[in-house]
Amino acid sequence: LLRLRIRTQPTSSDYEISIGHGLLSRVGEFARHALGKPARRIAIISNSKVFSLYGTVVVASLKRAGFQISNLSIGDGERFKSLRTTEKALNLLIQERFSRDDCVVALGGGVVGDVAGFAASIYMRGIPFIQVPTTLLAQVDSSVGGKTGVNLPEGKNLVGTFHQPRAVIIDTTTLSTLPLRELSSGWFETIKQGAVGGRKLFKETARFLNKFETSSNFQSPDLAALIHSHLTFKGSIVAADERESVARNDHRSRKILNFGHTIAHALETVTKYKRFRHGEAVGHGMLVAGAISKNLGLLEPSELELLHDGVRLCGPLPSARDLRAVELINCIARDKKQVLGHVRWVLLEKIGRPRIVDGKEIPRSLINQSLSEALGTKH
Ligand SMILES: NC(=O)c1ccc[n+]([C@@H]2O[C@H](COP(=O)([O-])OP(=O)(O)OC[C@H]3O[C@@H](n4cnc5c(N)ncnc54)[C@H](O)[C@@H]3O)[C@@H](O)[C@H]2O)c1
Repeated sequence: LLRLRIRTQPTSSDYEISIGHGLLSRVGEFARHALGKPARRIAIISNSKVFSLYGTVVVASLKRAGFQISNLSIGDGERFKSLRTTEKALNLLIQERFSRDDCVVALGGGVVGDVAGFAASIYMRGIPFIQVPTTLLAQVDSSVGGKTGVNLPEGKNLVGTFHQPRAVIIDTTTLSTLPLRELSSGWFETIKQGAVGGRKLFKETARFLNKFETSSNFQSPDLAALIHSHLTFKGSIVAADERESVARNDHRSRKILNFGHTIAHALETVTKYKRFRHGEAVGHGMLVAGAISKNLGLLEPSELELLHDGVRLCGPLPSARDLRAVELINCIARDKKQVLGHVRWVLLEKIGRPRIVDGKEIPRSLINQSLSEALGTKH
């Protein structure tokens, strides 16, 4: 069992992350420790696929710890990360008369975690919630840091809050049932975190991926240690810039976690979320950001090669060759993560050393060229 503490400002939250195998049967114990005696009710928010795999053991553990359980299965997939689903979750909390001492448990991937966290953050102006992530992406990234929210028809993550969990409980054995593509999707996020987090984290991740066999049992201490390293990094960024302050553009700003995301969002949007898993889009996005960095003279070609090697280790990427550069660029111009109409690109000076660059400083022709180098797109 590996443990990690996250302390954030300005919300002064302080919570523990536990990582290991077989922890699902101890969720009750961890929840009681995190919530204290007054908590009586827990609403488990999950989806039917994950709940049918892991619900029984989690419910039993929570009952043993003296909690009364209700549960809600939301639809499976990004399109259920919506206000409508949030309303269903709020209805459950109201019907079951949840008080501010009670708690929501998110059992599932990033979709479940984002919706459950959002509902918990607005019900009675905020009640506790606990993350029990079951996808790799959620275990190395989305379950920590307190970003919650849902999509609107106009775009992804347009509504949300910052609401830190009271505890994060990561059972690596849940990854054994995860489809391969979902696993790869998580690996792309680990390469992303390594690329901006530090050379050591990047190398540790690449070394792990080189040895990793998909037939492994997901109980290895190396896997838990890798997740621990990633969350230590993410926790350090979140602790110092919890709200992703608009004014910060330094290399430890929370914005650096968006490396690869400018292009990723554009790829997801122009293909209507049908072609790429989010991590795959980030895989392509990192290569484009890497090419832009190289073409601006910020990044050595040998460093870009290292990034390519890292991305290759994560798994196959669906082709983006048929997409048009102009369409992607127009889409970026509408992205919400711009300030005053300018895109902030997270680029690289080296593996492990990000730099935030104002879009105004990057000629459109250079972006075009980088897109065609990295994705093979036509102008
Ligand atoms: N809050 C944040 O900081 C943050 C960070 C990154 C991503 N996100 C969000 O996370 C979401 C993506 O999360 P995701 O990649 O986990 O996708 P997901 O939640 O859709 O899960 C992927 C698929 O795996 C299934 N699944 C989950 N656990 C399983 C298991 N153990 N065995 C078998 N199947 C399982 C799910 O039912 C789903 O079909 C996006 O909405 C993204 O915006 C949030």
